[in-house]
Amino acid sequence: MNIDGQPFRTVWAQDDYVQIIDQRELPFHCVTEDLKTVDQVARAISDMHVRGAGCIGATAGYGMWIATQEAARSSDPTNRLNDLATQLLETRPTAVNLRWAVERQLESLRSLSPETWAEHALELANTIADEDAAACAQIGQHGLPLIREIAEQKEGPVNVLTHCNAGWLAFVDHGSATAPIYAAHDAGIPVHVWVDETRPRNQGARLTAWELKQHGVPHTLIVDNAGGHLMQRGQVDLVITGTDRTTRSGDVANKIGTYLKALAARDNDVPFYVALPSSTFDWKLADGFAIPIEERSPSEVTSISGLRDKETTETSIHLTPQECMAANPAFDVTPKHLVTGLITERGICNASEDAIAQLYPDLA
Ligand code: MRU
Repeated sequence: MNIDGQPFRTVWAQDDYVQIIDQRELPFHCVTEDLKTVDQVARAISDMHVRGAGCIGATAGYGMWIATQEAARSSDPTNRLNDLATQLLETRPTAVNLRWAVERQLESLRSLSPETWAEHALELANTIADEDAAACAQIGQHGLPLIREIAEQKEGPVNVLTHCNAGWLAFVDHGSATAPIYAAHDAGIPVHVWVDETRPRNQGARLTAWELKQHGVPHTLIVDNAGGHLMQRGQVDLVITGTDRTTRSGDVANKIGTYLKALAARDNDVPFYVALPSSTFDWKLADGFAIPIEERSPSEVTSISGLRDKETTETSIHLTPQECMAANPAFDVTPKHLVTGLITERGICNASEDAIAQLYPDLA
């Protein structure tokens, strides 16, 4: 996607290292960061310089390329590579794209000699990134008719509600939940997006709002608790969210608060779609409650950061009494029966084991 008219991806190879857009700085500053060691890549993932399932997976793919360079310098390259892979795997537990990318790299390197690892790992990292971008573009095309159909039945813009950021920043390009929105907007269909702010880290307020503005898509920021009210008043035509991991039976893990949106959507007969590439399916899991849910620091709940007027660096402020206890589960699970459909790169299917297997007979 474009930033101020210039095309960007979220992560890419530069010489013999990795570059990312440092998403902690958005929306106030758009800066890139160089990642030259596996330690730096691991920190960028765990501290959320990069975030979002596809972007985490692609960054881990490039991280494995850096790992091959480090391992080749060691006296026991195979063991070293496995240790570095484990370091990357331990950075964030919920988004399955991380495991998918690291295991894909390990599998492809297994039969090769260490001197050739780096060349192959870079090629595969680029493939993972290209596939991610292509899958998201396809998700846009498959989701577009859903928005078009609603537009044909009503006056005024189609109101889509989305939670967190499953936009291009959460992938390599295009995004999952936002891809149909961008496709509709580009096709001249009037579309308006309700953007959940998504406490505690405010990915909606900071990232989705910024992305939509860059692309010229009309949008309105709302507090996380406003979605149900808007649905009751008929002001939401469609919900589209992303997912960090979806089981092979269709249970969906996504940013905390997604489940409540799905409940409100069901109560108000609002279609609730989840957009994902095949790399976000966990083919090993059938039960959504077996998905590991990341617990993040309570400080993300007890404080908030932003930009004071006329300042250029962010300030963090406390929101609570000193030493207030806070819990911070970062994701929740929406059971399949609340999901109207899954928008994938191969088309739309029901959130059920059979329907998913029919779409992905080669992977399920
Ligand atoms: O904690 P994050 O920002 O990495 O969480 C991921 C998300 O932004 C959302 O859960 C998103 O909807 C799914 S990622 C495509």
